[in-house]
Amino acid sequence: MKLSQRITQLTGGGSDGWDVFYRARRMISEGHPVTELTIGEHDIRTDQSILDAMDLSARQGNTGYAIVPGNDLLRDTVAARVQARTGVPTSRNNVLITPGGQSALFAAHVAVCEPGDVGLYLDPYYATYPGTIRGAGATARAIQTSAEDAFQPRAEEIDAAADGAVSLLINTPNNPTGVVYSLQTLEGIAEVCRKRDLWLISDEVYDTQVWDGEHISPRTLPEMADRTLVVGSMSKSHAMTGSRCGWVVGPEEVIAHLINLATHTTYGVPGFIQDAASFALNAGTDFEEEIAAPFRRRRALAVEILSAQNTIGLVPAQGAMYLMLDIRATGLSGEAFANALLDTHEIAVMPGESFGKAAAGHIRVAMTIEDERFATALKTICDFATGLAESAAAE
Ligand SMILES: Cc1ncc(COP(=O)(O)O)c(C=O)c1O
Repeated sequence: MKLSQRITQLTGGGSDGWDVFYRARRMISEGHPVTELTIGEHDIRTDQSILDAMDLSARQGNTGYAIVPGNDLLRDTVAARVQARTGVPTSRNNVLITPGGQSALFAAHVAVCEPGDVGLYLDPYYATYPGTIRGAGATARAIQTSAEDAFQPRAEEIDAAADGAVSLLINTPNNPTGVVYSLQTLEGIAEVCRKRDLWLISDEVYDTQVWDGEHISPRTLPEMADRTLVVGSMSKSHAMTGSRCGWVVGPEEVIAHLINLATHTTYGVPGFIQDAASFALNAGTDFEEEIAAPFRRRRALAVEILSAQNTIGLVPAQGAMYLMLDIRATGLSGEAFANALLDTHEIAVMPGESFGKAAAGHIRVAMTIEDERFATALKTICDFATGLAESAAAE
């Protein structure tokens, strides 16, 4: 039987540099002591107090269908948080609760893209971006950023790629690069969006993980609140990846339509998960900082370790739970380096090529293991790279 193009063409085919990830998974299942620095999963579990709130809510009977847009308490809590952080007036009618940020990304694209429209995204990119845009029926068009610009996008390159486009998807703090977009970058992006009449879909799921500089939501910029859909999530800020709770924040009219979409797709997020999320958000910024603290510490360790060598370049590690390392001095591609590292030292990292063309010759290291093991692994990566670079120079 024939399947739809939308589903068969979703991923674009090819291995896309994920072979090393699956190989590491296989080695782990065969009992190899692989040091796992691949994906963005905390090394702590959801806090007991959040689980207690979830349990209490479920025991009080919140196990039936929840109200589709999200319950008033959580929508109000998210709106208040967004308003407090950005100063942009935000009410419950600007908020749709979704099953995670991923679902919010999809819903946002469905809201603004007609079949065949172009949805823009920036390379390097979070792995699901092109498939999410295609899943919404649009054509995904990548715009390269470059290591030489520290992966800050250039407005003129977005402008040059914008013919036929209706939306631009950005992510700051950024996965995979760890870069936080500057005010200047965001002002340039906003200008192109206004000039080219683009929707801006702003993925801000790492907004509590900023080590250097500040997180600026582009929804705060002049005339942007009416054309920006912000994607947020409990996953990274509160170590609630498995709870699948996120949101879209945007103009009331868009949210009203997205409620219809949710009614016909997800049918909402479980009430006990929403109550746990409200509890977690009301635990305040100290709690968020506690969740972010291990990454802040490991990022400081990494800066120290990397400053003691000259082979690997560190892309400015300003936010999120990843380091992007430039290993071009070894003469290897990111993929070849990651495979060799896995074979030689049983350390698993992601090749830059897994995230598009722009991060070729890089590897992404997730800072998601305990400090001492993390520091040891990073030193091993540095020594390994230095050895490779020396052999390359001697040839
Ligand atoms: C940039 C980015 N956006 C969105 C997501 C999706 O997060 P979730 O669906 O768990 O909220 C992730 C997860 O790793 C991510 O890195």
